[in-house]
Amino acid sequence: MAKKIKLAKRVKRLKKVCRLECGMPLSFRMKLLGTETAFDVLVRAKELERQGKNVIHLEIGEPDFDTPQNIKEAAKKALDEGWTHYGPSQGLPELRELIAKKAGELRGMEFKSEEVVITPGAKPVMSFAIMALVEDGDEVLYVNPGFPIYESMINFMGGKAIPLALKEENDFLPDLKELKRKLNKKTKLLIINFPHNPCGSMPDENYFRDMAEILVKYDDLWVLSDEVYSRIIYDEKFISIASFPGMKEKTIILDGFSKTYAMTGWRIGYGIMHPELAKELARIETNINSCTTTFIQRACLEALSGPQDEVDKMVNEFKKRRDIIFEGLNEIPGFSVKVKPKGAFYIFANVKNSGYSCKELADKLLNELGVACLSGTCFGKYGEGFIRFSYANSIENIKEALRRIKEFMSKKK
Ligand SMILES: Cc1ncc(COP(=O)(O)O)c(C=O)c1O
Repeated sequence: MAKKIKLAKRVKRLKKVCRLECGMPLSFRMKLLGTETAFDVLVRAKELERQGKNVIHLEIGEPDFDTPQNIKEAAKKALDEGWTHYGPSQGLPELRELIAKKAGELRGMEFKSEEVVITPGAKPVMSFAIMALVEDGDEVLYVNPGFPIYESMINFMGGKAIPLALKEENDFLPDLKELKRKLNKKTKLLIINFPHNPCGSMPDENYFRDMAEILVKYDDLWVLSDEVYSRIIYDEKFISIASFPGMKEKTIILDGFSKTYAMTGWRIGYGIMHPELAKELARIETNINSCTTTFIQRACLEALSGPQDEVDKMVNEFKKRRDIIFEGLNEIPGFSVKVKPKGAFYIFANVKNSGYSCKELADKLLNELGVACLSGTCFGKYGEGFIRFSYANSIENIKEALRRIKEFMSKKK
């Protein structure tokens, strides 16, 4: 009886907690959902700009280039041709086929169109996969620091989010001993992301082989490999964990158009996975968004089959900026970057000797210097002591940001 009263009291308390400020109820589940702080910082930075402050945007996770003209033309043509209606939930067969071909070429693998699911942005592949695979209490290992939506969606779906720490001394790669220790029969899913946001890290072939050898021993384990930066890689060839023996069957590849073709606002991406799972994700898509915008899918045929020189140009430009920001940050008192990014367009600077917490420092850089950036803790608890700068901005602006920070930190010492 006492137990029942206790439970009733707890439910009442929870219900009280799960209300909007206006007094109307909200599901308890919403309390478990996180967010992506980059968008909050962007709002604060825009507000400062509105007040007349000059702000250099190094917080944003999107290329500062325009979508190539041929892709825009293809979208206009598709609209004129009438690609304005619903399409199949899994995606247009002709685009799925082309994605299978191109994604296969990049990874030295073979894919079939049945393995591809096209989604509105690459992000839904995360939530759809977690929805399809994770039951209440299932353990999900994920890289931390990492893209904040992993942890948010694992919690939202009732899973148990288990972080795999990415440490500077391990080149921001998961420690394979820790991976072995944390994997168990309850682990349903492992989420990795290379090239990595926010650290820019990318393992070599031997590392991936060792990791794959551990993972294949777990029959019921799925792996979500976030490869959204697969084309933004500087000095080496892109490698996917899916290409190692026994891994293709258990890997869900997430990739898309947002970063590669500077198409963040178009909202299109895709997953590549076992065809049976692909059908399940398409069923979720039917329930949530019916399909991905049809004329945009048609434009993506052009993105993949048309000239790729704009992508190459963009990656070369990112490489130049990476070198400048890497050197520049290392010259600032209290800042250091030991791991030179190998891909993506982020750099993760160690600010443990700056005299500030990373959150304090990121706030100061924005409010006092007009340099917008993200504290490492926006990417999870293991991001403490670091700041992420996105170098998706011009060399001129990057140099000016470095100048402002150096001046500020030099005065402090
Ligand atoms: C690691 C990572 N995965 C996925 C995404 C989402 O990509 P999209 O904009 O195509 O949904 C992002 C975007 O910032 C990202 O950084």
